[in-house]
Amino acid sequence: MVKVKIGKGCLTDVKEDVLAIGVFEGMKIPKEFKEFTKEKTKRQFEGKLGQTYAITTLGKMPFKRLLLIGLGKEKEFNVDFMRRMAGTAVRYAEANKLPKLCISVLERKVCLPTDIIQALTEGSILAGYKFTQFKTKKEELFDVEDVHLVLGSHCPGAQEAVERGTVLAEAQNFVRDLNELPANIATPAYIADHAKKLAKKNRMAVKVLEKSDMKKMGMNAILAVNRGSTEPPKLVVLEYNKGKKLPLYAAVGKGITFDSGGISLKPSKGMEEMKYDKTGALVVLGIMKAVSELKLPIRLMGIMPLTENMPSGSAQKPGDIIKAFNGKTIEVINTDAEGRLILADALAYAAKQKPKAIIDLATLTGAVIVCLGRAGAGLMANDDKLARSIQDAGLKTYERVWRLPLWPDYTELMKSDFADLKNVSGVGEAGTITAAAFLKEFIGDAKWAHIDIAGVDLVNKPHPYYAKGATGIGVRLVTEALKNLSKKK
Ligand code: BES
Ligand code: ZN
Ligand code: ZN
Repeated sequence: MVKVKIGKGCLTDVKEDVLAIGVFEGMKIPKEFKEFTKEKTKRQFEGKLGQTYAITTLGKMPFKRLLLIGLGKEKEFNVDFMRRMAGTAVRYAEANKLPKLCISVLERKVCLPTDIIQALTEGSILAGYKFTQFKTKKEELFDVEDVHLVLGSHCPGAQEAVERGTVLAEAQNFVRDLNELPANIATPAYIADHAKKLAKKNRMAVKVLEKSDMKKMGMNAILAVNRGSTEPPKLVVLEYNKGKKLPLYAAVGKGITFDSGGISLKPSKGMEEMKYDKTGALVVLGIMKAVSELKLPIRLMGIMPLTENMPSGSAQKPGDIIKAFNGKTIEVINTDAEGRLILADALAYAAKQKPKAIIDLATLTGAVIVCLGRAGAGLMANDDKLARSIQDAGLKTYERVWRLPLWPDYTELMKSDFADLKNVSGVGEAGTITAAAFLKEFIGDAKWAHIDIAGVDLVNKPHPYYAKGATGIGVRLVTEALKNLSKKK
Protein backbone atom coordinates (compact mmCIF):
# COMPACT_ATOMS: atom_id res chain seq x y z
CA MET A 1 0.00 0.00 0.00
CA VAL A 2 1.24 3.49 -0.88
CA LYS A 3 2.29 5.55 2.15
CA VAL A 4 1.74 9.30 2.04
CA LYS A 5 3.96 11.63 4.07
CA ILE A 6 4.47 15.33 4.27
CA GLY A 7 7.80 16.26 2.63
CA LYS A 8 10.11 19.16 3.47
CA GLY A 9 9.18 22.63 2.38
CA CYS A 10 11.69 23.43 -0.30
CA LEU A 11 11.57 21.82 -3.73
CA THR A 12 15.33 21.57 -4.02
CA ASP A 13 15.37 19.33 -0.93
CA VAL A 14 13.43 16.70 -2.76
CA LYS A 15 15.34 13.44 -2.92
CA GLU A 16 12.60 11.38 -4.47
CA ASP A 17 12.68 9.79 -7.89
CA VAL A 18 9.98 11.90 -9.56
CA LEU A 19 8.69 15.32 -8.74
CA ALA A 20 5.18 15.83 -10.04
CA ILE A 21 3.77 19.31 -10.24
CA GLY A 22 0.27 20.37 -11.16
CA VAL A 23 -0.06 23.16 -13.71
CA PHE A 24 -3.25 24.98 -14.68
CA GLU A 25 -3.87 25.85 -18.32
CA GLY A 26 -1.92 28.97 -19.30
CA MET A 27 0.02 29.11 -16.03
CA LYS A 28 3.75 29.77 -15.93
CA ILE A 29 6.07 27.02 -14.83
CA PRO A 30 8.09 28.08 -11.73
CA LYS A 31 11.50 29.61 -12.32
CA GLU A 32 13.43 26.81 -10.62
CA PHE A 33 12.46 24.62 -13.57
CA LYS A 34 13.11 27.21 -16.27
CA GLU A 35 16.06 25.26 -17.52
CA PHE A 36 13.91 22.29 -18.48
CA THR A 37 10.87 24.05 -19.75
CA LYS A 38 12.02 25.30 -23.12
CA GLU A 39 9.80 26.49 -25.94
CA LYS A 40 9.26 22.86 -26.98
CA THR A 41 7.62 22.10 -23.65
CA LYS A 42 5.30 25.05 -23.99
CA ARG A 43 4.16 23.78 -27.34
CA GLN A 44 3.64 20.22 -26.19
CA PHE A 45 2.23 20.84 -22.75
CA GLU A 46 -0.64 23.23 -22.34
CA GLY A 47 -1.85 22.19 -18.89
CA LYS A 48 -5.03 20.55 -20.17
CA LEU A 49 -6.77 18.37 -17.57
CA GLY A 50 -5.04 15.01 -17.25
CA GLN A 51 -2.27 15.88 -19.75
CA THR A 52 1.22 14.80 -18.66
CA TYR A 53 4.71 15.79 -19.76
CA ALA A 54 7.87 14.26 -18.30
CA ILE A 55 11.31 15.86 -18.40
CA THR A 56 14.57 14.12 -17.43
CA THR A 57 16.63 16.33 -15.13
CA LEU A 58 20.02 14.81 -16.17
CA GLY A 59 21.43 15.12 -12.69
CA LYS A 60 20.81 18.85 -12.50
CA MET A 61 18.11 18.49 -9.88
CA PRO A 62 17.87 16.24 -6.81
CA PHE A 63 15.23 14.11 -8.55
CA LYS A 64 15.37 12.06 -11.73
CA ARG A 65 12.36 13.40 -13.49
CA LEU A 66 10.01 16.31 -13.44
CA LEU A 67 6.47 15.38 -14.31
CA LEU A 68 4.08 18.13 -15.35
CA ILE A 69 0.42 17.28 -14.83
CA GLY A 70 -2.29 19.38 -16.43
CA LEU A 71 -4.97 20.63 -14.06
CA GLY A 72 -7.21 22.17 -16.72
CA LYS A 73 -8.86 25.57 -16.42
CA GLU A 74 -8.40 27.18 -13.04
CA LYS A 75 -11.97 28.50 -12.94
CA GLU A 76 -13.34 24.96 -13.37
CA PHE A 77 -11.26 23.65 -10.48
CA ASN A 78 -12.75 21.25 -7.99
CA VAL A 79 -11.05 19.21 -5.28
CA ASP A 80 -11.35 15.97 -7.24
CA PHE A 81 -8.73 17.38 -9.67
CA MET A 82 -6.28 16.80 -6.82
CA ARG A 83 -7.27 13.14 -6.44
CA ARG A 84 -6.87 12.74 -10.19
CA MET A 85 -3.54 14.52 -10.25
CA ALA A 86 -2.16 12.33 -7.47
CA GLY A 87 -3.55 9.28 -9.27
CA THR A 88 -1.90 10.29 -12.54
CA ALA A 89 1.43 10.82 -10.78
CA VAL A 90 1.28 7.44 -9.00
CA ARG A 91 0.41 5.69 -12.28
CA TYR A 92 3.34 7.38 -14.02
CA ALA A 93 5.79 6.35 -11.29
CA GLU A 94 4.42 2.81 -11.42
CA ALA A 95 4.72 2.53 -15.20
CA ASN A 96 8.32 3.77 -15.02
CA LYS A 97 9.18 1.58 -12.02
CA LEU A 98 10.08 4.51 -9.81
CA PRO A 99 9.31 3.66 -6.16
CA LYS A 100 9.35 7.19 -4.77
CA LEU A 101 7.30 10.15 -5.78
CA CYS A 102 6.98 13.70 -4.67
CA ILE A 103 3.92 15.80 -5.43
CA SER A 104 3.87 19.54 -5.32
CA VAL A 105 1.30 22.13 -6.23
CA LEU A 106 2.52 25.37 -7.74
CA GLU A 107 1.46 27.79 -5.07
CA ARG A 108 3.60 26.22 -2.42
CA LYS A 109 4.44 29.50 -0.72
CA VAL A 110 0.96 29.60 0.75
CA CYS A 111 -0.42 26.72 2.76
CA LEU A 112 -2.71 24.40 0.86
CA PRO A 113 -6.24 24.04 2.22
CA THR A 114 -6.55 20.82 4.22
CA ASP A 115 -9.20 19.33 1.92
CA ILE A 116 -6.69 19.53 -0.94
CA ILE A 117 -4.07 17.75 1.15
CA GLN A 118 -6.65 15.11 2.06
CA ALA A 119 -7.63 14.66 -1.60
CA LEU A 120 -3.99 14.29 -2.72
CA THR A 121 -3.58 11.62 -0.05
CA GLU A 122 -6.74 9.79 -1.09
CA GLY A 123 -5.87 9.92 -4.79
CA SER A 124 -2.39 8.51 -4.14
CA ILE A 125 -3.59 5.59 -2.03
CA LEU A 126 -6.58 4.77 -4.24
CA ALA A 127 -4.43 4.82 -7.39
CA GLY A 128 -1.79 2.62 -5.77
CA TYR A 129 -4.32 -0.18 -5.21
CA LYS A 130 -4.12 -3.33 -7.35
CA PHE A 131 -5.79 -6.70 -6.92
CA THR A 132 -2.94 -9.14 -7.48
CA GLN A 133 -3.78 -11.97 -5.11
CA PHE A 134 -4.33 -14.47 -7.90
CA LYS A 135 -1.45 -13.45 -10.17
CA THR A 136 1.32 -16.00 -9.86
CA LYS A 137 4.03 -14.00 -11.67
CA LYS A 138 4.69 -11.43 -8.95
CA GLU A 139 7.88 -10.10 -10.59
CA GLU A 140 5.84 -8.36 -13.27
CA LEU A 141 4.16 -6.22 -10.64
CA PHE A 142 5.52 -2.95 -9.36
CA ASP A 143 4.33 -0.85 -6.45
CA VAL A 144 5.02 2.77 -5.66
CA GLU A 145 6.02 2.87 -1.98
CA ASP A 146 6.17 6.48 -0.87
CA VAL A 147 4.42 9.64 -1.88
CA HIS A 148 5.72 12.84 -0.34
CA LEU A 149 3.57 15.93 -0.44
CA VAL A 150 5.57 19.13 -0.77
CA LEU A 151 3.78 21.87 1.13
CA GLY A 152 4.64 25.42 2.00
CA SER A 153 6.29 26.04 5.36
CA HIS A 154 4.44 24.78 8.41
CA CYS A 155 0.80 24.24 7.47
CA PRO A 156 -1.68 23.88 10.34
CA GLY A 157 -3.87 20.77 10.06
CA ALA A 158 -1.79 19.24 7.25
CA GLN A 159 -0.73 16.13 9.18
CA GLU A 160 -4.32 15.49 10.32
CA ALA A 161 -5.52 15.85 6.72
CA VAL A 162 -3.02 13.21 5.56
CA GLU A 163 -4.12 10.92 8.38
CA ARG A 164 -7.82 11.41 7.58
CA GLY A 165 -7.23 10.79 3.87
CA THR A 166 -5.20 7.67 4.69
CA VAL A 167 -7.90 6.20 6.94
CA LEU A 168 -10.60 6.83 4.33
CA ALA A 169 -8.68 5.59 1.29
CA GLU A 170 -7.40 2.52 3.12
CA ALA A 171 -10.95 1.68 4.25
CA GLN A 172 -12.04 2.03 0.63
CA ASN A 173 -9.20 -0.25 -0.57
CA PHE A 174 -10.19 -2.77 2.11
CA VAL A 175 -13.67 -2.87 0.53
CA ARG A 176 -12.20 -3.21 -2.99
CA ASP A 177 -9.99 -6.10 -1.91
CA LEU A 178 -12.88 -8.12 -0.45
CA ASN A 179 -15.21 -7.17 -3.29
CA GLU A 180 -12.84 -8.53 -5.96
CA LEU A 181 -12.96 -11.96 -4.35
CA PRO A 182 -15.19 -14.28 -6.36
CA ALA A 183 -18.19 -16.10 -4.98
CA ASN A 184 -16.33 -19.41 -4.53
CA ILE A 185 -14.14 -17.66 -1.94
CA ALA A 186 -16.17 -14.76 -0.55
CA THR A 187 -19.12 -16.74 0.78
CA PRO A 188 -21.43 -15.27 3.45
CA ALA A 189 -19.42 -17.18 6.10
CA TYR A 190 -16.12 -15.80 4.77
CA ILE A 191 -17.38 -12.21 4.89
CA ALA A 192 -18.85 -12.73 8.37
CA ASP A 193 -15.40 -13.92 9.54
CA HIS A 194 -13.79 -10.79 8.11
CA ALA A 195 -16.37 -8.66 9.89
CA LYS A 196 -15.52 -10.43 13.16
CA LYS A 197 -11.80 -9.81 12.60
CA LEU A 198 -12.41 -6.13 11.96
CA ALA A 199 -14.64 -5.88 15.02
CA LYS A 200 -11.91 -7.37 17.20
CA LYS A 201 -9.19 -5.16 15.76
CA ASN A 202 -11.19 -1.94 16.00
CA ARG A 203 -12.93 -2.83 19.29
CA MET A 204 -16.49 -3.01 18.00
CA ALA A 205 -19.27 -5.29 19.16
CA VAL A 206 -20.29 -7.96 16.65
CA LYS A 207 -23.17 -10.40 16.41
CA VAL A 208 -23.78 -12.88 13.60
CA LEU A 209 -27.35 -14.11 13.20
CA GLU A 210 -27.38 -17.66 11.80
CA LYS A 211 -30.06 -19.41 9.74
CA SER A 212 -31.59 -20.88 12.92
CA ASP A 213 -31.81 -17.38 14.49
CA MET A 214 -33.46 -16.04 11.33
CA LYS A 215 -36.04 -18.82 11.48
CA LYS A 216 -36.85 -18.03 15.11
CA MET A 217 -37.05 -14.31 14.43
CA GLY A 218 -39.16 -14.59 11.28
CA MET A 219 -36.60 -13.19 8.84
CA ASN A 220 -38.30 -15.12 6.07
CA ALA A 221 -37.33 -12.79 3.24
CA ILE A 222 -33.60 -13.46 3.68
CA LEU A 223 -34.37 -17.17 4.14
CA ALA A 224 -36.47 -17.22 0.94
CA VAL A 225 -33.60 -15.79 -1.14
CA ASN A 226 -31.19 -18.26 0.46
CA ARG A 227 -33.31 -21.33 -0.33
CA GLY A 228 -31.60 -22.08 -3.64
CA SER A 229 -28.09 -21.90 -2.18
CA THR A 230 -25.97 -24.47 -0.38
CA GLU A 231 -24.13 -21.67 1.48
CA PRO A 232 -25.83 -20.73 4.76
CA PRO A 233 -26.99 -17.10 5.08
CA LYS A 234 -25.58 -14.71 7.70
CA LEU A 235 -26.79 -11.44 9.10
CA VAL A 236 -23.84 -9.56 10.56
CA VAL A 237 -24.49 -6.76 13.04
CA LEU A 238 -21.50 -4.64 14.02
CA GLU A 239 -21.72 -1.86 16.56
CA TYR A 240 -19.29 0.95 17.18
CA ASN A 241 -19.46 2.76 20.53
CA LYS A 242 -22.06 0.29 21.81
CA GLY A 243 -23.53 1.25 25.15
CA LYS A 244 -22.24 4.83 24.97
CA LYS A 245 -24.59 7.78 25.42
CA LEU A 246 -24.30 8.98 21.82
CA PRO A 247 -26.83 9.28 18.98
CA LEU A 248 -27.34 5.97 17.17
CA TYR A 249 -27.21 5.66 13.38
CA ALA A 250 -27.59 2.55 11.26
CA ALA A 251 -25.92 1.63 7.95
CA VAL A 252 -27.39 -1.31 6.07
CA GLY A 253 -25.86 -2.94 2.96
CA LYS A 254 -27.04 -5.50 0.41
CA GLY A 255 -24.77 -8.54 0.60
CA ILE A 256 -25.59 -10.90 -2.26
CA THR A 257 -22.33 -12.81 -2.70
CA PHE A 258 -23.53 -13.95 -6.11
CA ASP A 259 -26.69 -12.96 -7.96
CA SER A 260 -27.55 -15.53 -10.63
CA GLY A 261 -31.13 -14.23 -10.62
CA GLY A 262 -32.41 -17.47 -9.06
CA ILE A 263 -35.24 -19.19 -10.96
CA SER A 264 -35.69 -15.90 -12.87
CA LEU A 265 -32.20 -16.66 -14.17
CA LYS A 266 -30.04 -13.87 -15.60
CA PRO A 267 -28.49 -14.19 -19.09
CA SER A 268 -24.96 -15.63 -18.90
CA LYS A 269 -23.27 -12.69 -20.64
CA GLY A 270 -21.68 -10.55 -17.95
CA MET A 271 -23.03 -12.71 -15.14
CA GLU A 272 -19.54 -12.88 -13.61
CA GLU A 273 -20.01 -9.23 -12.58
CA MET A 274 -22.69 -10.39 -10.17
CA LYS A 275 -19.93 -11.30 -7.71
CA TYR A 276 -20.01 -7.55 -7.00
CA ASP A 277 -23.61 -7.75 -5.77
CA LYS A 278 -22.21 -7.80 -2.24
CA THR A 279 -20.81 -4.26 -2.60
CA GLY A 280 -23.38 -2.60 -0.31
CA ALA A 281 -22.55 -4.90 2.61
CA LEU A 282 -18.80 -4.48 2.12
CA VAL A 283 -19.15 -0.71 1.88
CA VAL A 284 -20.94 -0.85 5.24
CA LEU A 285 -17.95 -2.78 6.60
CA GLY A 286 -15.63 -0.11 5.18
CA ILE A 287 -17.75 2.65 6.78
CA MET A 288 -17.49 0.86 10.15
CA LYS A 289 -13.70 0.69 9.72
CA ALA A 290 -13.39 4.37 8.78
CA VAL A 291 -15.83 5.69 11.41
CA SER A 292 -14.15 3.71 14.20
CA GLU A 293 -10.66 4.82 13.14
CA LEU A 294 -11.71 8.46 12.81
CA LYS A 295 -13.41 8.11 16.20
CA LEU A 296 -16.60 9.94 15.16
CA PRO A 297 -18.75 10.92 18.16
CA ILE A 298 -21.71 8.68 17.26
CA ARG A 299 -22.92 5.15 17.85
CA LEU A 300 -23.12 3.25 14.60
CA MET A 301 -24.72 -0.06 13.80
CA GLY A 302 -23.60 -1.75 10.58
CA ILE A 303 -26.05 -4.36 9.31
CA MET A 304 -25.07 -6.78 6.56
CA PRO A 305 -27.51 -9.42 5.28
CA LEU A 306 -25.45 -11.99 3.33
CA THR A 307 -26.55 -14.78 1.02
CA GLU A 308 -26.22 -16.11 -2.52
CA ASN A 309 -29.15 -15.98 -4.93
CA MET A 310 -29.16 -19.31 -6.76
CA PRO A 311 -31.58 -21.50 -8.71
CA SER A 312 -32.12 -25.08 -7.54
CA GLY A 313 -34.86 -27.57 -6.75
CA SER A 314 -35.29 -25.92 -3.38
CA ALA A 315 -35.11 -22.30 -4.62
CA GLN A 316 -37.99 -19.89 -4.16
CA LYS A 317 -40.31 -19.59 -7.15
CA PRO A 318 -42.20 -16.76 -8.81
CA GLY A 319 -45.60 -16.56 -7.15
CA ASP A 320 -44.32 -17.62 -3.70
CA ILE A 321 -45.68 -15.57 -0.81
CA ILE A 322 -43.48 -14.88 2.22
CA LYS A 323 -43.86 -12.97 5.49
CA ALA A 324 -41.03 -10.54 6.28
CA PHE A 325 -39.57 -9.69 9.72
CA ASN A 326 -42.00 -6.77 10.20
CA GLY A 327 -45.03 -9.01 9.47
CA LYS A 328 -45.79 -7.71 5.97
CA THR A 329 -46.45 -10.30 3.28
CA ILE A 330 -44.68 -10.24 -0.09
CA GLU A 331 -45.57 -11.94 -3.35
CA VAL A 332 -42.31 -12.81 -5.14
CA ILE A 333 -42.95 -12.06 -8.80
CA ASN A 334 -39.32 -12.10 -9.90
CA THR A 335 -36.62 -13.95 -7.96
CA ASP A 336 -34.00 -11.63 -9.51
CA ALA A 337 -35.39 -8.74 -7.46
CA GLU A 338 -33.76 -10.40 -4.43
CA GLY A 339 -31.83 -7.43 -3.00
CA ARG A 340 -35.00 -5.70 -1.84
CA LEU A 341 -36.09 -8.93 -0.13
CA ILE A 342 -32.98 -9.30 2.02
CA LEU A 343 -33.03 -5.56 2.71
CA ALA A 344 -36.68 -5.77 3.79
CA ASP A 345 -35.70 -7.91 6.79
CA ALA A 346 -32.46 -6.02 7.45
CA LEU A 347 -34.14 -2.58 7.32
CA ALA A 348 -36.98 -3.73 9.58
CA TYR A 349 -34.32 -5.00 12.01
CA ALA A 350 -32.50 -1.64 11.83
CA ALA A 351 -35.74 0.32 12.40
CA LYS A 352 -36.43 -1.74 15.53
CA GLN A 353 -33.26 -0.33 17.12
CA LYS A 354 -34.79 3.19 16.87
CA PRO A 355 -31.79 4.94 15.28
CA LYS A 356 -31.75 8.66 14.47
CA ALA A 357 -31.42 7.70 10.80
CA ILE A 358 -30.88 4.68 8.59
CA ILE A 359 -28.72 4.81 5.46
CA ASP A 360 -28.71 1.81 3.15
CA LEU A 361 -26.45 1.07 0.19
CA ALA A 362 -27.25 -1.51 -2.46
CA THR A 363 -26.41 -2.57 -6.01
CA LEU A 364 -30.17 -2.74 -6.34
CA THR A 365 -31.26 -2.01 -9.90
CA GLY A 366 -29.94 -2.03 -13.45
CA ALA A 367 -32.41 0.82 -13.96
CA VAL A 368 -30.19 3.25 -12.03
CA ILE A 369 -27.54 2.80 -14.76
CA VAL A 370 -30.16 3.64 -17.39
CA CYS A 371 -31.04 6.72 -15.35
CA LEU A 372 -27.68 8.15 -14.24
CA GLY A 373 -25.10 6.12 -16.13
CA ARG A 374 -21.91 5.55 -14.19
CA ALA A 375 -21.40 9.13 -13.06
CA GLY A 376 -23.20 8.90 -9.75
CA ALA A 377 -25.49 6.95 -7.47
CA GLY A 378 -29.25 7.26 -7.05
CA LEU A 379 -30.45 8.71 -3.76
CA MET A 380 -33.95 8.33 -2.36
CA ALA A 381 -34.93 9.52 1.08
CA ASN A 382 -37.95 10.29 3.25
CA ASP A 383 -36.20 13.18 5.02
CA ASP A 384 -34.89 16.31 3.31
CA LYS A 385 -32.16 17.13 5.85
CA LEU A 386 -30.75 13.63 5.70
CA ALA A 387 -30.85 13.71 1.89
CA ARG A 388 -29.13 17.10 1.86
CA SER A 389 -26.32 15.90 4.14
CA ILE A 390 -25.63 12.99 1.77
CA GLN A 391 -25.79 15.23 -1.31
CA ASP A 392 -23.33 17.67 0.31
CA ALA A 393 -21.02 14.82 1.28
CA GLY A 394 -21.17 13.66 -2.35
CA LEU A 395 -19.92 17.00 -3.60
CA LYS A 396 -17.03 17.00 -1.14
CA THR A 397 -15.94 13.39 -1.74
CA TYR A 398 -16.89 13.42 -5.44
CA GLU A 399 -18.93 10.27 -4.77
CA ARG A 400 -21.87 12.08 -6.25
CA VAL A 401 -25.53 11.24 -5.72
CA TRP A 402 -28.66 12.46 -7.45
CA ARG A 403 -31.97 12.48 -5.60
CA LEU A 404 -35.04 10.84 -7.13
CA PRO A 405 -38.61 11.33 -5.83
CA LEU A 406 -40.51 8.88 -3.65
CA TRP A 407 -44.09 9.92 -4.42
CA PRO A 408 -47.00 7.76 -3.22
CA ASP A 409 -47.74 6.87 -6.87
CA TYR A 410 -44.78 4.47 -6.81
CA THR A 411 -45.98 2.77 -3.62
CA GLU A 412 -49.30 2.08 -5.34
CA LEU A 413 -47.44 0.13 -8.04
CA MET A 414 -45.98 -2.28 -5.47
CA LYS A 415 -49.32 -3.50 -4.09
CA SER A 416 -50.10 -7.16 -4.77
CA ASP A 417 -53.45 -8.78 -5.53
CA PHE A 418 -52.64 -11.68 -3.22
CA ALA A 419 -50.32 -10.28 -0.53
CA ASP A 420 -49.52 -6.86 0.97
CA LEU A 421 -46.76 -6.19 -1.53
CA LYS A 422 -45.14 -7.64 -4.62
CA ASN A 423 -41.40 -7.43 -5.20
CA VAL A 424 -41.61 -5.92 -8.70
CA SER A 425 -44.18 -3.58 -10.12
CA GLY A 426 -44.41 -5.32 -13.46
CA VAL A 427 -44.97 -2.09 -15.37
CA GLY A 428 -41.31 -1.73 -16.36
CA GLU A 429 -41.13 1.93 -15.41
CA ALA A 430 -39.14 3.82 -12.76
CA GLY A 431 -37.37 0.63 -11.70
CA THR A 432 -34.99 2.35 -9.27
CA ILE A 433 -37.76 4.27 -7.51
CA THR A 434 -40.25 1.41 -7.31
CA ALA A 435 -37.51 -0.68 -5.66
CA ALA A 436 -37.09 2.11 -3.08
CA ALA A 437 -40.87 2.40 -2.66
CA PHE A 438 -40.84 -1.30 -1.75
CA LEU A 439 -38.04 -0.78 0.82
CA LYS A 440 -39.95 2.14 2.36
CA GLU A 441 -42.57 -0.36 3.58
CA PHE A 442 -40.03 -1.82 6.00
CA ILE A 443 -38.56 1.19 7.75
CA GLY A 444 -41.55 2.14 9.91
CA ASP A 445 -41.25 5.78 10.96
CA ALA A 446 -37.46 5.99 10.84
CA LYS A 447 -35.64 8.69 8.90
CA TRP A 448 -34.09 6.85 5.99
CA ALA A 449 -31.99 7.28 2.89
CA HIS A 450 -31.39 4.65 0.23
CA ILE A 451 -28.39 4.83 -2.12
CA ASP A 452 -28.53 2.69 -5.27
CA ILE A 453 -24.87 2.12 -6.15
CA ALA A 454 -25.38 -0.34 -9.04
CA GLY A 455 -23.74 2.07 -11.52
CA VAL A 456 -20.70 3.04 -9.47
CA ASP A 457 -19.59 -0.19 -7.77
CA LEU A 458 -17.04 -0.95 -10.49
CA VAL A 459 -15.20 0.68 -13.36
CA ASN A 460 -14.55 -0.99 -16.70
CA LYS A 461 -12.53 1.71 -18.38
CA PRO A 462 -9.40 3.65 -17.35
CA HIS A 463 -9.91 6.09 -14.52
CA PRO A 464 -7.26 8.40 -12.99
CA TYR A 465 -7.41 6.73 -9.58
CA TYR A 466 -9.46 3.54 -9.89
CA ALA A 467 -8.05 0.40 -11.48
CA LYS A 468 -10.48 -1.77 -13.45
CA GLY A 469 -12.76 -3.52 -10.99
CA ALA A 470 -14.32 -2.60 -7.65
CA THR A 471 -14.27 1.07 -6.60
CA GLY A 472 -15.46 0.90 -2.99
CA ILE A 473 -17.52 4.03 -3.66
CA GLY A 474 -19.80 4.84 -0.74
CA VAL A 475 -17.26 4.61 2.08
CA ARG A 476 -16.05 8.21 1.89
CA LEU A 477 -19.55 9.45 1.04
CA VAL A 478 -21.39 7.97 4.02
CA THR A 479 -18.54 8.55 6.48
CA GLU A 480 -18.52 12.23 5.51
CA ALA A 481 -22.33 12.41 5.80
CA LEU A 482 -22.19 10.82 9.27
CA LYS A 483 -19.46 13.26 10.30
CA ASN A 484 -21.70 16.16 9.28
CA LEU A 485 -24.78 14.66 10.94
CA SER A 486 -22.83 14.18 14.17
CA LYS A 487 -22.16 17.94 14.26
CA LYS A 488 -25.83 18.91 13.79
CA LYS A 489 -28.20 18.96 16.71
N1 BES B 1 -28.13 -7.06 -8.65
C1 BES B 1 -29.13 -6.67 -9.57
C2 BES B 1 -29.00 -5.22 -10.04
C3 BES B 1 -27.81 -4.90 -10.90
C4 BES B 1 -27.93 -4.95 -12.27
C5 BES B 1 -26.63 -4.50 -10.35
C6 BES B 1 -26.85 -4.64 -13.06
C7 BES B 1 -25.54 -4.17 -11.15
C8 BES B 1 -25.66 -4.24 -12.50
C9 BES B 1 -30.52 -6.85 -8.96
O1 BES B 1 -30.65 -7.84 -8.02
C10 BES B 1 -31.45 -7.17 -10.08
O2 BES B 1 -31.28 -8.19 -10.66
N2 BES B 1 -32.38 -6.26 -10.34
C11 BES B 1 -33.29 -6.43 -11.41
C12 BES B 1 -34.65 -5.98 -10.93
C13 BES B 1 -35.77 -6.38 -11.86
C14 BES B 1 -35.97 -7.88 -11.81
C15 BES B 1 -37.01 -5.67 -11.43
C16 BES B 1 -32.82 -5.54 -12.56
O3 BES B 1 -32.34 -4.44 -12.32
O4 BES B 1 -32.92 -6.00 -13.71
ZN1 ZN C 1 -31.09 -9.77 -8.91
ZN1 ZN D 1 -28.90 -8.37 -6.99
